[in-house]
Amino acid sequence: EAAFTRQADGQLAVDGLPLKTLAERYGTPLYIYSDAALTRNWQAFARHWPAPHRLCYAVKANSNLAILQRLAQLGAGFDIVSGGELARVLAAGGDAAQVVFSGVAKSVTEITQALTAGIGCFNVESLAELDRINAIAADLGCIAPVSLRINPDVDAQTHPYIATGLKANKFGIAMDDAVASFVYAASLAHVKVVGADCHIGSQILSVDPFLDAAQRMLDLVAELARRDIPLQHLDMGGGMGIQYQQEAPFALAEYLQRLQALVKEQQPHLTLMLEPGRALVGNSGVLVTQVEYLKRSADKCFALVDAGMNDLVRPALYQAWHDIVPVHASTEPQATLVDVVGPVCETGDFLGHARHLAVKAGDYLAVMNAGAYGFTMASNYNTRPRAAELLVRAGQAHVIREREELQQLWKDERLLP
Ligand code: LLP
Repeated sequence: EAAFTRQADGQLAVDGLPLKTLAERYGTPLYIYSDAALTRNWQAFARHWPAPHRLCYAVKANSNLAILQRLAQLGAGFDIVSGGELARVLAAGGDAAQVVFSGVAKSVTEITQALTAGIGCFNVESLAELDRINAIAADLGCIAPVSLRINPDVDAQTHPYIATGLKANKFGIAMDDAVASFVYAASLAHVKVVGADCHIGSQILSVDPFLDAAQRMLDLVAELARRDIPLQHLDMGGGMGIQYQQEAPFALAEYLQRLQALVKEQQPHLTLMLEPGRALVGNSGVLVTQVEYLKRSADKCFALVDAGMNDLVRPALYQAWHDIVPVHASTEPQATLVDVVGPVCETGDFLGHARHLAVKAGDYLAVMNAGAYGFTMASNYNTRPRAAELLVRAGQAHVIREREELQQLWKDERLLP
């Protein structure tokens, strides 16, 4: 069931609220999220994921406090990659004990902050990091719960920038070094080895690479058990893909069930964890933008819109496809091929190329599936204030982030004396 639907009068609406009304009221560019969609996405996991298995939402996908608050209320733990994300989780009412801390270059400050807050687990990416965590925990007089991130070397068949499970990238510890690394971790006085984790990439649409990775991880868990290093949990990371275009949908229920079946048969005592980001928030948000001008040249038509790569960088950065649809039924009789481009001074600043659209200046367009890696990757490039964010819940629109004011952009800058 789609959250953003076309009403009988042609208006695109969420919970019965026309996006056009919201755009007129709150201005554009505007991120609009649906609480109903968020909840449905959560339930699609939770339904097939009984306790004690856990879900740690990957905060980087969308870290607005209200989104974190809703997910915490639904029962989510959190996967964070910085001290900043930890602070957000705590500010939103999340439980530190349900937090796992991923990331390749955790600083001393971040590790200290996480230990002090009492996070559930560090997902450790190298032996150097392990030594650092052990030393800080010793200073603080505590024991740090750790998992080692192992690189299972499977090809996730996704965009090279977001594939992380192959040998040749910066993430995790190579499978060949895994056993020795766990043996080393188990020898340290101020860490307790509680798990193993992996993350093979993002926007993966087939179940097979996940199950391949799971089998490799389970073989490792078995080997560790033989060496008297029993693990409590296996965290398979995130990466479950969503439909941006006409892709066959990811078989989520099948993945969840087959993963549990594998574990039940091989390591029945293990608790499973996942770190979904995109799959929870991606389709629950849109970016609404207004057409400033149409510009026709001999062989091209551009729709110049008020949202750019600073608001949504995925098309520019990954050539990612987002559907772009008119927010209200068009009065223009003819759809033409248009490039939907932003106001930023870069040729790469586009939201969509060669889209079949009937638009005129002043129209609003919705860029679909913008709930994940949308606002969180936004910048102030070209001194553009970041967009406002709304969450629609039970037919009510709530401003969950005000549009940035210009003065905020340089308030920390100083003129020379
Ligand atoms: N866990 C770890 C350790 C991760 O690195 C990531 C994402 C996730 C979980 C969540 O992955 P998800 O379920 O959302 O696929 N900016 C890119 C995506 C980068 C993903 C980075 N890591 C994009 O816009 O497509």
